[in-house]
Amino acid sequence: MTFQSDLHDRRVVITGGAGLIGQGFVRAVVENGGRAILADIDEASGQRVKESLSAELRTDKIEFCRVDVTSRESIQRMMDSVLAKHGGVDALVNNAYPRNQHYGRKFEDVTYEDFCENVNLHLGGYFLMSQELSRVMVKQGHGTIVFVSSIYGFMAPRFEVYEGADFTSPVEYSAIKGALLSLTKYLASYLGQHGIRVNAISPGGVYNRQEESFVTQYCKRVVLGNRMAGADDLAGALVFLLSDASKYMTGQNLVVDGGWSI
Ligand SMILES: NC(=O)c1ccc[n+]([C@@H]2O[C@H](COP(=O)([O-])OP(=O)(O)OC[C@H]3O[C@@H](n4cnc5c(N)ncnc54)[C@H](O)[C@@H]3O)[C@@H](O)[C@H]2O)c1
Repeated sequence: MTFQSDLHDRRVVITGGAGLIGQGFVRAVVENGGRAILADIDEASGQRVKESLSAELRTDKIEFCRVDVTSRESIQRMMDSVLAKHGGVDALVNNAYPRNQHYGRKFEDVTYEDFCENVNLHLGGYFLMSQELSRVMVKQGHGTIVFVSSIYGFMAPRFEVYEGADFTSPVEYSAIKGALLSLTKYLASYLGQHGIRVNAISPGGVYNRQEESFVTQYCKRVVLGNRMAGADDLAGALVFLLSDASKYMTGQNLVVDGGWSI
């Protein structure tokens, strides 16, 4: 038996497609036979990533669409343009990373307003995108949604890895990422009757030139290879969840962390 992992020209909207992980997702979709709609609030980065990946992969299957996932009007505008051009959408990857300017503070310094705003932007944005795009998917009778959660969606941060670093894992992050795993199951159950599958990926830490002390401490817990993840390490899980190879899977969470959380 061969596995149906080709994406067969599927139209995949990837929010946050201009970012660290999003770029890897755009690449993975196109390299595996799909069409990537790189949806990001940052127009300059989005266009730049679209152009450089298109040239490198020699493809016309990447397009940029500006979207603010926290605005229903902006999402509807994006979808009007996607539907006019492609006639439908096969998959949504909720991967954007909205946060306000105070995001990242230590627990005792987070204000109630900042907590609520960051939860609203990130969790609320994923809700809004899913609600708007699932309307189209329900009409079509098929679709796939992937939420990007995190290992911190199901386990507590190991605060010792942040010792000596000038950043931490903020409390909002755990609240948001845990809630996304619940939302994954809720929507899988609610939308399954319409042929829509909803799953999550929980990546471990992705290398992004973080402080050396953090990287060293983080890597001590990694089982595979004593290194942080690269965006390419997440590609297989994404393609699997978008393809027919996972056609009987919904409501699940794939952990891709080199064994960090075990
Ligand atoms: N980097 C990691 O180590 C790591 C680990 C686990 C999970 N994740 C998750 O992966 C996802 C992507 O993270 P990343 O590290 O690539 O982040 P990133 O900051 O590199 O990229 C995020 C992208 O989201 C876009 N964005 C922000 N607000 C937006 C909005 N309102 N509407 C549309 N786009 C918006 C940004 O412009 C940016 O291009 C996030 O959900 C993050 O929580 C990241």
